[in-house]
Amino acid sequence: MKTRITELFGIEHPIMQGGMHYVGFAEMAAAVSNAGGLGIITTSATKTPKGLADEIAKCKDMTEKPFGVNLTFLPSVTQPDYPSFIDVIAKSGIKIVETAGRNPAQVMPQLKDAGIKVIHKCTSVRHSLKAQEIGCDAVSVDGFECGGHPGEDDVPNMILLPRAADELDIPFVASGGQADGRSLVASLAMGADGINMGTRFVATKDAPVHENVKQAILSASELDTSLIMRPFRNTERVLNNAAVDIIVQKERELGSKISFNDILKQVAGVYPKIMVDGDMDSGAWSCGMVVGLIKDIPTCQELIDRIMSEADAIIHQRLSGMSA
Ligand SMILES: Cc1cc2nc3c(=O)[nH]c(=O)nc-3n(C[C@H](O)[C@H](O)[C@H](O)COP(=O)(O)O)c2cc1C
Repeated sequence: MKTRITELFGIEHPIMQGGMHYVGFAEMAAAVSNAGGLGIITTSATKTPKGLADEIAKCKDMTEKPFGVNLTFLPSVTQPDYPSFIDVIAKSGIKIVETAGRNPAQVMPQLKDAGIKVIHKCTSVRHSLKAQEIGCDAVSVDGFECGGHPGEDDVPNMILLPRAADELDIPFVASGGQADGRSLVASLAMGADGINMGTRFVATKDAPVHENVKQAILSASELDTSLIMRPFRNTERVLNNAAVDIIVQKERELGSKISFNDILKQVAGVYPKIMVDGDMDSGAWSCGMVVGLIKDIPTCQELIDRIMSEADAIIHQRLSGMSA
């Protein structure tokens, strides 16, 4: 399949793996890229510029295919040293960066000077247009159903994707709720040039996370996620668990009086406990509604091959068979 996204990134299949805190290490990115998609190393979990350089070097030993790096701009008291991270990215010869969290205008000159293609993750048409205006090469349009931060507009992909297609000139991938060949064909039909997956890639043999995380995904249904942190306008979709129950209850009880300290224990620094130790109730972790569509733990190669062959069958058998 050839789309504007496969052409832009020099990849075989129009499937990318979104940045994922404590998941997007070299093993994950290399497995996706080796399977013909676009793997993404996630800067936040590498902690320091040196850590990122090591992770990129490790990934280069594992794949000769293109892979990218995610830079997530988080609301935090002490800002990470983004220019130094970008320096490492540029010096490592990485040519693709996925930005997220807020508008990457500040870092665009540094990225563009290094000849890097930028795909910015957006949860609305207006943010996508802004990304286009400031020179992003593509956007990842994240619908309300997505794992992680869906923004505050609550527009699902069935509406958001065609709206984005109507307004954007640059290519975009559909993100949120993507799991299989049906997702890919539907997203292409709505105007996207590919798909971005998070949750689906966590439940693969290659994902470098504790087995308990994969089993939690297999056991969950599409009804098992919640939105947290809406009072802080930093809404996150997470998998229900004991920690999330506490957060939801505090948000309900404290209303507008809630402060971040009230939920700090359930959200701050919890990812290593979950992803590394497999302590599934120790905190809130991002997970999409797509969890209801995930029934197995394939390798990334098996998953991507299956998506592409399902898509082919839908296009050439199911859909073309409907022509009157
Ligand atoms: C465990 C997990 C961690 C994530 N961490 C990040 C992150 O650090 N930065 C980011 O931009 N997106 C992050 N995301 C969002 C994904 O990149 C992607 O946009 C999202 O998962 C798409 O929705 P889906 O889960 O329905 O596929 C995360 C998602 C998951 C499931």
